[in-house]
Amino acid sequence: MAKNETTGNRPTEDFSAGTIAWRSPSNIALIKYWGKKGFQIPSNPSISMTLSDSYTETLVKCRPSQNSGNISFDFFFEGEKKPQFGQKISTFLEAVFDIFPFLKNFDLEIHSSNTFPHSAGIASSASAMSTLALCLCSMEQQISGSINENNDFFQKASNIARIGSGSASRSIYGGFVTWGKIDSLPETSDFYASPLKTSIHPIFQNLRDTILIINKNEKAVSSRAGHGLMENHPFAAARITQAYQNLDELSVYLSDGNFDGFVKIVENEALTLHALMMASNPGYLLIQPGTLNVIRKIWDFRKQTGTNIVFTLDAGPNVHLLYPERETKTVRDFIKNELLADCDENKIIDDKLGEGPKKLK
Ligand code: DP6
Repeated sequence: MAKNETTGNRPTEDFSAGTIAWRSPSNIALIKYWGKKGFQIPSNPSISMTLSDSYTETLVKCRPSQNSGNISFDFFFEGEKKPQFGQKISTFLEAVFDIFPFLKNFDLEIHSSNTFPHSAGIASSASAMSTLALCLCSMEQQISGSINENNDFFQKASNIARIGSGSASRSIYGGFVTWGKIDSLPETSDFYASPLKTSIHPIFQNLRDTILIINKNEKAVSSRAGHGLMENHPFAAARITQAYQNLDELSVYLSDGNFDGFVKIVENEALTLHALMMASNPGYLLIQPGTLNVIRKIWDFRKQTGTNIVFTLDAGPNVHLLYPERETKTVRDFIKNELLADCDENKIIDDKLGEGPKKLK
């Protein structure tokens, strides 16, 4: 929690009306967060890579409130009022109201937009909730007259983002990021994410992620519901043990530059995530025939050519294809010749490891 936390302030003169804006990227988990042990506390620690070009920009305009006491906001997504998103924002603002009591003194106008199409099937909660958390923390900071975006600032933003969406806690930092308490790593916490301190081998430093859009429709079972189904899941305990082991191994491979080891863990995590969904009660399937076609083709191609590529999945049918920058030409040709046919309207999104959020002027 930030040391300079201020609560309950009325707006200072400089901040009686103001505008704050942040850009924050999406991320893709390599070690998956799946299941919770209490309110937004992960059952196991996770590791993700922050993306670069798939991001949300959020601008918050604040005016002194006319109806003091309540949370008052209007939400616009890509210029239009979107009631279904507004409801999520409302739930989030209510959940953080005790932490930011100054909210009752303002009417907020929140404008958000994504660089990736909303209907691309890319999870936007990580980038959306992390930008909003950063805006709220900046607002608090300006009210208190502080100007430092120091470690405490980002730690608090990560904690707030987690309340909106667990995976959003990791989008506060660039590079490889971990969230969830690991006893051997004192900087880790269940409440906020932190940059992975392991040294990262050059082969992973410019990792690329091409997202193959297998189906752009909204998924049938939300991640929130999926986490819920991990309670009383017959394999929950084994999954938690496996996640800790995979995390330990992956950290070593990231530092040693062992790409084969990286492939083994990252694909195991992706397939386990979907196996857990299938074995839930009730069971469900988010992968689609196109997902399986692509996975088989990736396995064949890797075997035949020895190219360093690996797939991962989030809670949906789309495939994230990860590879070192030096493989870009080979992988682009492979995608064009073999994988594009399995993509919805030939749609892919090219992205890469990114540096994390940016405050906008
Ligand atoms: C499969 O962060 O979307 O992408 O905390 O309920 O908002 P909530 O869930 P969310 O879950 C993400 C699940 C995942 C794996 C991951 O990102 O670690």
